[in-house]
Amino acid sequence: MKPKIYVTRKLEDRIIAKLEKYCEVSMWDKEDIPVPREVLMAEVPKVDGLYCLLTETIDQEIIRLAPRLKVISNMAVGYNNIDLTAARERNIVVTNTPDILTETTADLTFALLMATARRIVEAVDYIKNNQWQTWSPMQLTGRDVYGATLGIIGMGRIGSALARRANGFAMNVVYHNRNRSPKEEQELGVQYLEWEELFKTSDYICVMVPYSEETKNLIAEKEFQLMKETSMLINTSRGGIVNEDALYHALTNQQIWAAGLDVFEQEPIDNTNRFVSLPNVTTLPHIGSASMATRLKMEEVAAENLIRVLQGRSPLYSVI
Ligand code: DGY
Repeated sequence: MKPKIYVTRKLEDRIIAKLEKYCEVSMWDKEDIPVPREVLMAEVPKVDGLYCLLTETIDQEIIRLAPRLKVISNMAVGYNNIDLTAARERNIVVTNTPDILTETTADLTFALLMATARRIVEAVDYIKNNQWQTWSPMQLTGRDVYGATLGIIGMGRIGSALARRANGFAMNVVYHNRNRSPKEEQELGVQYLEWEELFKTSDYICVMVPYSEETKNLIAEKEFQLMKETSMLINTSRGGIVNEDALYHALTNQQIWAAGLDVFEQEPIDNTNRFVSLPNVTTLPHIGSASMATRLKMEEVAAENLIRVLQGRSPLYSVI
């Protein structure tokens, strides 16, 4: 008999076919609407495997409802939506999809940095709103990227992919990490700085650490006070790492110059969110890994992880 699984979002046909080869599949069949919690609660008691996205909170309550559950396969590198302690207690394997999204997410991070620095979104709106009357010397002027100092918080896979891009743009790259990264220091010429020094020195701060209890509100009032008035904060990791009240205060009191945000404490946001109306903030709807090729690979790797665990094999990537 095939193991039973529940998939919390409509996937590509090719991936569903792959899952159906090995499993009995039930699926929430909407692409752009997350599965309601009560539906998830009704489905998990029946299954051996759960294929989920970062939009689902897989907490103790859900895990307790699922006595047969052996694997939770998250289609994301981040797994802060899953209660690892509750999963560990039940020996449930939790898997994720790192590596394959590294370069795509680094691309988006650099694009957001450039868009924020050079006011690209404002400039596009300038034409759309019929504001362009003439060329003038200081019209829509931004800040240079070349020659500036990029401070990377978290020199993991995506952090170092970002450093490579910054090197190509003649930036000076500094970083802070729990542990120093001698390989990156040597190969990428990046320089380690102490926490406070990083904030004082950088023209751009990019947040590249995963979200956890330790990194929640990691960047708050103190950090914004250290930053230069001309500096920018770019976050493509998780919203809760940056304290949003402190960020809003810093942006509206000229403590920092601008921000580029792909992630928020509560997602999704809409056009009433306080950051959306600030002219010095570029907001994106959590699209770091959103290239067609990468999202397909993520779907595929999450399926492979799930199938492997249900077959008693090691997944490609596991968190626990
Ligand atoms: C992740 O994978 O954690 C991203 O936030 C979405 O790709």
